[in-house]
Amino acid sequence: MRIIKLDAIDSTNTFLKEISSADTLEDYTIVVAKQQNRGRGQMGKVWASNAGENLTFSVFKRISNLQFSNQFYLSIVTSLALYKTLKYYNVPNLFVKWPNDILSANKKIAGILIENIVKKSKLEYSIIGIGLNVNQTEFNDLISATSLKNSCGRTFDLDEVMHKFIVEFKIAFKSLDSGATEALKADYESKLFRKNKPSTFKNAEGNLFSGFIKGISSSGNLVLLLEDEIIEEFTLNEITLLY
Ligand code: BTN
Repeated sequence: MRIIKLDAIDSTNTFLKEISSADTLEDYTIVVAKQQNRGRGQMGKVWASNAGENLTFSVFKRISNLQFSNQFYLSIVTSLALYKTLKYYNVPNLFVKWPNDILSANKKIAGILIENIVKKSKLEYSIIGIGLNVNQTEFNDLISATSLKNSCGRTFDLDEVMHKFIVEFKIAFKSLDSGATEALKADYESKLFRKNKPSTFKNAEGNLFSGFIKGISSSGNLVLLLEDEIIEEFTLNEITLLY
């Protein structure tokens, strides 16, 4: 397994995307950086992380038998691998917040940015970016974030945590490659934040409404039970879970 270690880079996702277009990479090639100057989050947001304190890395993975419409399974596999890594270190109160944030005690401990390279309407390969808060202890209050150190009260070795993640990631990918999609989906749903709890959401127009999270659809939309027993599914652009 090739690991490219960098002191500083704009974004490990961007860097890995660039080298993957020029070179033939092995599966699970990793780019890890001590510092990102332009770390990217979901929905065009910035991913901020103190230099040298956390894990910011990206993994290259070729995609063989996953339909374009099932690409959410990449989020499932990655979320489960992160969840299991954190569980191994006894991080308390873990949940996966749809679509792919990992929470400990209601605070975000890790985020995932997946960028798929598609050729002729077929998923070719994926750049899977992980931001995992490890040893940072002070966060901007507005962001409500936490870290392994804040959750467990000790300092962690960054390399060790990354290797543990890669082991879990390979196991989860093996399940996906063997076609165990239903089991992976069920595992993911069992870890969903606020599942079956009365919750408040905001729609794209900014209006609030309430409902119960029931699970996800096969394409990764969030399935809610609304008033009058109505079941409806929502895409990421249509809904935000508030509480
Ligand atoms: C999110 O929760 O918004 C996703 C955050 C993903 C951050 C990681 S850090 C490594 C990789 N490189 C990036 O620029 N982003 C991802």
